[in-house]
Amino acid sequence: MSARLTLRDLTRRWPDGTLGIDLSGQSLVFEPGEMTAILGPSGAGKSTLLRCASRLIEPSTGEVTLGELALTCLKGRALSRARGQIGFVFQQFNLVRSYSALDNVLVARARHVSWARGLLGLWREVDVALARRCLDEVGLAEKHQSLARELSGGQQQRVAVARAFAQEPQAIFADEPTASLDPQLSATVLGLLRRYGQRESVPVLINVHTIEHARRYCDRVIGMRAGRVVFDGPSSTLSDAAVNEIYGRQAEEGAAL
Ligand SMILES: Nc1ncnc2c1ncn2[C@@H]1O[C@H](COP(=O)(O)OP(=O)(O)OP(=O)(O)O)[C@@H](O)[C@H]1O
Ligand SMILES: [Mg+2]
Repeated sequence: MSARLTLRDLTRRWPDGTLGIDLSGQSLVFEPGEMTAILGPSGAGKSTLLRCASRLIEPSTGEVTLGELALTCLKGRALSRARGQIGFVFQQFNLVRSYSALDNVLVARARHVSWARGLLGLWREVDVALARRCLDEVGLAEKHQSLARELSGGQQQRVAVARAFAQEPQAIFADEPTASLDPQLSATVLGLLRRYGQRESVPVLINVHTIEHARRYCDRVIGMRAGRVVFDGPSSTLSDAAVNEIYGRQAEEGAAL
């Protein structure tokens, strides 16, 4: 089942009164299989947008729907289950360093098994097989027994990507997943996310700072500045003038390009 992701009138106001994001009056619809880059200078609200859209933090106003699921209306267990529909890849991987690569990926299967099984690590064969397929997909079949702390940064990020795939998510969000990777590994990770999104027909949203990555790997670009969306269009239409508009003076100074 392919789900469309819709963000409507989403805002997040911080306790000091400032707005982290202000999408009031704006609706953003992300189609299944579409990979979208979110660009913008530091502090533009890119992370806040992904965190609100997945309810890792609470939006102040607005609605998020993923397929039939009205994410912003849910509480408690229903909310945790719904969050499980979104695979989140973080810049700093967020692995359990003392777990093997395979066990880190199996964490994603916890919502598919009973609480006791998950806690005791009594995984079903079908879950282990899926986790191993996901590790294979990211090129780490041979490393399934290695502890996360023994893996390189690029390998750890690929385990994190495999964990997101093992969730069998309805959407994937990635917050600067390539920020600590070299160019070749960045390309690998972005290619994996793109291929998965197209094959499984899920929307993929990715915060990036590299314009070239947005143009090469993404179908669509959303440009943010000071919490607002200032550009939204196919990545092929992201002109240098549009980049200047998104980044303001920073682009003129050559930053973030
Ligand atoms: N927990 C918080 N409490 C208060 N303000 C916050 C909090 N988190 C973020 N902000 C503010 O919200 C705004 C948007 O921050 P956000 O982290 O979303 O930016 P970003 O576009 O992801 O930047 P970067 O590229 O540096 O990661 C910034 O002004 C930031 O200072
Ligand atoms: Mg950020």
